[in-house]
Amino acid sequence: MSEVYDKLVRAYDSIKGKIPFEPEVALVLGSGLGDFADSGAIKVETIIDYKDIVGFPVSTAPGHKGRFVFGTVGDVKVVCMQGRVHHYEGYSMQDVVMPTRLMKMMGTKVLFLTNASGGVKRGMKPGTLMMIRDHISCFIDSPLIGENIPELGVRFPDMSHVYDEDLQHIIRKSAAFLDMNIEEGVYLQLKGPNYETPAEIAMCRLMGADAVGMSTACEAQAANHMGMKICCISCITNLAAGISSAPLSEEEVIETGKRVSAEFTVLVSESIKNFKKENIF
Ligand code: HPA
Repeated sequence: MSEVYDKLVRAYDSIKGKIPFEPEVALVLGSGLGDFADSGAIKVETIIDYKDIVGFPVSTAPGHKGRFVFGTVGDVKVVCMQGRVHHYEGYSMQDVVMPTRLMKMMGTKVLFLTNASGGVKRGMKPGTLMMIRDHISCFIDSPLIGENIPELGVRFPDMSHVYDEDLQHIIRKSAAFLDMNIEEGVYLQLKGPNYETPAEIAMCRLMGADAVGMSTACEAQAANHMGMKICCISCITNLAAGISSAPLSEEEVIETGKRVSAEFTVLVSESIKNFKKENIF
């Protein structure tokens, strides 16, 4: 067994007795969006703090709590990551995707990612919700580098359709039902933790990115490797560097996340309930 897989199994073994049910959806809450788990949108059954999981990476990023919340959204069983870990915190890419792998081990088939990002496409406004249609991950190391873990997936996974078309269709329909405007586009993950320079953002735009951030694509790569159905809603928390003269700050990222949190919560909840109604799982 590989070292990475062995660590994953040990983490799972340390909590399996506390997991209340086999969750159907794994939900990752990004910077400033963690309120979802405290908002009443989820009927909470059990909370497991990351610090109580053997070998688990603990989040140090602002706006990230660091615990798994198990509960139901409507009649859908979910496990929700209230806070994720990032490569820029000093964790290896394998550690960054360990929580995603653990949630697959718990039985989830759908990974619903969320994040905060900087708007690169011209005309995007802070507070806009953007559904990710595809990503650019080649500026970061793949979490799949190293010995392949055959228990999880194949050596050379196809990444032609990382974000599931059926889930995207349901999110689009859910937004329309709620009378909400959402954007759609390409997300580009950079390493962070510094924000980008205006020249870097100009490069990202030329490459086809609509938003940039410091997470998500690596988790999507790991989940795709394991055959999960994946979707993502990104909250554009600020204009990316060089678009406005205002300096970028983590306060703005967290503030905007909090400002749109009610709208975000309704869309995520509605979409999750509709996944079940449309027999995704
Ligand atoms: N750049 C990178 N990551 C981010 C940004 C940004 O402008 N906003 C929120 N996360």
